[in-house]
Amino acid sequence: MNVELFQGSIQAQTTDTIIVNLFDDVTTPSGGTGAVDKALNGAISELIANGDISGKVGEVGVLYPRGLIPAKRVLVVGLGQRDSFDLEGVRQAAAAAAIRARELNAQQVATIVHGAGIAGLPPGAAAQAAVEGTLLALYQFDADKEKDPQNEIESLAIVEFDESKLGAMQDGVDTAVAITTGTILARDLVNMPPNIATPTRLAQAATEIAEAHSMKLTISGRKWAAKRNMGAFLAVAKGAGEPPKFIVLEHNSDRDDLDTIVLVGKGNTFDTGGISIKPVAGMGKMKSDMGGAAAVLGAMKTVGLLDLPLRVIGITPCTENMPDANAYRPADVITACNGKTIEIISTDAEGRMVLADGLVYAKQYNPKAVIDLATLTGACVIALGFNMAAGLFSTDETLEAKMIAAGKTTQERVWPLPLWDDYLQVIKSDVADMQNAGGRFGGVGTSAIFLKQFTDYPWIHLDIASMALMEKGKSYIPAGGTGFGVRLLVEFLRQWQ
Ligand code: BES
Ligand code: MN
Ligand code: ZN
Repeated sequence: MNVELFQGSIQAQTTDTIIVNLFDDVTTPSGGTGAVDKALNGAISELIANGDISGKVGEVGVLYPRGLIPAKRVLVVGLGQRDSFDLEGVRQAAAAAAIRARELNAQQVATIVHGAGIAGLPPGAAAQAAVEGTLLALYQFDADKEKDPQNEIESLAIVEFDESKLGAMQDGVDTAVAITTGTILARDLVNMPPNIATPTRLAQAATEIAEAHSMKLTISGRKWAAKRNMGAFLAVAKGAGEPPKFIVLEHNSDRDDLDTIVLVGKGNTFDTGGISIKPVAGMGKMKSDMGGAAAVLGAMKTVGLLDLPLRVIGITPCTENMPDANAYRPADVITACNGKTIEIISTDAEGRMVLADGLVYAKQYNPKAVIDLATLTGACVIALGFNMAAGLFSTDETLEAKMIAAGKTTQERVWPLPLWDDYLQVIKSDVADMQNAGGRFGGVGTSAIFLKQFTDYPWIHLDIASMALMEKGKSYIPAGGTGFGVRLLVEFLRQWQ
């Protein structure tokens, strides 16, 4: 969709649809909504007085101006309470209006920026949130478009009357377009069936990013990994029919004057559990087990679009986890590329295996921070709930605080969990340096302490097991792949100093 910012009056727009808004305490609208109300001879005030629209969150009233202004229809979206209104409110209001506009077969839509008027949100951030909410809400995976064709809105005009806000708003709009592009890439990769979104297909996505943004790219297979003694990654790949790919994307590759941040994403393109095979029910959801890799690739796409002044490295070890005559098995002892040995308790604890070699590989970049994202444990879903927050583990309090702040800004929430060394006792092995799984208790803590054995830099681990997929759509996150992590990582990187 074409998105553009214009200086002007919302009531004068010649688009078929215009969007204005309403707080729940308003009787006589002001600002852009007030200007439309006036042009319609008080039609909005009348609807408020009659109780037909109330300004509550998610409400969208529709008015037909019948020639009083150029637009065919006016959508009045509720913003709820003024005091608690924030950027998430902007995203949700924009999403509600966009979904309604699509249902009404709107082609060209113009909107004011919710929150940038009397609510006093920073104009740039508000414009960013409005565009994010709109574009993310209207997302449809290609296959869904074919089976369930919906109207596609052609253009979105962001309209601002106050000239002094335009500069900041243009930055906000550009940022939002870059961020939604990365998020949509991540959603697409998760939504693709697992026979399509193979390691090879993820490598293709990385190639397209590298070419578009002149990043350095290495795509490597079994031989390369064997030369580097990546026994943990290769163990999981042993049973895979699809060739594994260890993918490394480097933005500002040769700029060692810049701070380096490494992003590592779990890229299990399908997780059957391997020999420790998963139950039948819901196994198909494990196509989303590359949600970490998808988030890293999506974030790298946005990093390229925004050309962030940092050295950012994206590492995604990608492989299926399949049962096979060649597959690794429980009781195997595997050596990771740092020489540490791992006794396999469950081949279903494969994510930490591929991450182990990925995390050691990150070290060579001399990173200021390494952040990994992984759909790692069912235990994290049990602990925090479904679609509530990613579990956060960190070895560095400053980094942790920055990530929590980024989570608050983007509403891609993260929640700190303990990384006590005592968890190591639970994965103590008689035959190796550690086991790849502990017992039934504290499964998210034992997974994190396992990963820590492969890090020696400031590090954050995000367990996104409950966040990569949505069962039912909600506001600007439709059902399916969420793209979780892209907005969070990009905000973290943009705030880096
Ligand atoms: N990919 C799964 C974790 C998962 C579960 C992601 C539910 C999304 C939703 C992971 O590889 C896994 O199987 N973890 C095991 C670890 C156990 C064997 C120690 C788990 O959580 O049961
Ligand atoms: Mn598994
Ligand atoms: Zn997995």
